[in-house]
Amino acid sequence: MLTVAPPTRLLLGPGPSPVHPRVYQAISQPVVGHLDPYFFQVNEEIRKGLQTCFGTTNEFTMVISGTGSAGMETAVTNFVEPGMKFAVFANGYFADRITEMGRRHGAQIVRLEKPWGESFTGAEAEDFISRHKPQLVAFIQAETSTGCYTPGKGICEAARKVGALTIADTVTSLGGMPVDVDAMGIDIAYSGTQKALGCPPGLAPITVGPRGVEYLRARKAPSVSWYLDLKLLLDYYEQAHRYHHTAPVSMFYALRESLAVIEEEGLPARLERHRKNHEAFVAGMESLGTAMYVAGEHRLWTLNTPRVPDGVNDLAVRKHLIAKYGIEIAGGLGPLAGKVFRIGTMGYGSSAENVSLLVDALRDAFAVAKA
Ligand SMILES: Cc1ncc(COP(=O)(O)O)c(C=O)c1O
Repeated sequence: MLTVAPPTRLLLGPGPSPVHPRVYQAISQPVVGHLDPYFFQVNEEIRKGLQTCFGTTNEFTMVISGTGSAGMETAVTNFVEPGMKFAVFANGYFADRITEMGRRHGAQIVRLEKPWGESFTGAEAEDFISRHKPQLVAFIQAETSTGCYTPGKGICEAARKVGALTIADTVTSLGGMPVDVDAMGIDIAYSGTQKALGCPPGLAPITVGPRGVEYLRARKAPSVSWYLDLKLLLDYYEQAHRYHHTAPVSMFYALRESLAVIEEEGLPARLERHRKNHEAFVAGMESLGTAMYVAGEHRLWTLNTPRVPDGVNDLAVRKHLIAKYGIEIAGGLGPLAGKVFRIGTMGYGSSAENVSLLVDALRDAFAVAKA
């Protein structure tokens, strides 16, 4: 077998996104044991960096060994109990995924459905939640299937009035858009490392606020999942440092380094970079006569969904971009298949150079894919 030699790709799809060179360096450092004091020091630095990105003072902030879906399942398995009423704000693919996880955990699901790409008003959230009085509410802050942003303030306020906890999926917002856990009133938020944090896939940051911690303390039956049980994980990471699982140490180095990069850039400056490059991309698409799928005020800065121009074959565009430029973008999911592209401008990949390279490549690809 030859040494692994991946092709050169510019990852401008919905994730994974380009990895910062310092993160690649960090990941190649020697592994220490998962009970080594150095590992716990790295873990503590990660916790602090994540608090900044999440916009929270939550002590209970840690990472799950697994991808974004493990973060989602951690939220579900620790906060859903059989028979519980679980409300999902459903406007895309990942809302359907958390619905399915809730269903498998025996929740009684109620959903407020919106067409993919639309967000929810505070009045809609208030009306829905006050009618159903759920115990738990979930929404997708950054819906990667559509490019739609739902900050969540109205949802969290309405949930609090009926005593419900809130779960926010911040997989595609953390490190690239305001997440603002404390300001929004979010109780539980999870994410993934491979999007705007600029790391490879493999870890799922999670934060739990005081109301969530109180719920966990009072919970009688243990969560169905042993691996994702937050109480056991807390014992390992924060308290007794008792062995729970062999943490993927190299990925912890990677995340620690990406958070150092974020600290040096400064979160506000980083978010502003994402906003600017997103807007430059939108302007570029408009110059090609291509409209965006999501209304202006609800657009993610991290994940863009330009419509596939009339008469253009989206698969042919994607194939051309890979073959000629080594650029990866993605097509639409579910009802948006063939209708939109999904283009990431996130993390290390969010740069003016990448945007202009991509807009030029798309101009070329649209012409080729029309012929
Ligand atoms: C919004 C959202 N939630 C959850 C996930 C699941 O993350 P993963 O694919 O890392 O398991 C993704 C992945 O793209 C996502 O975009």
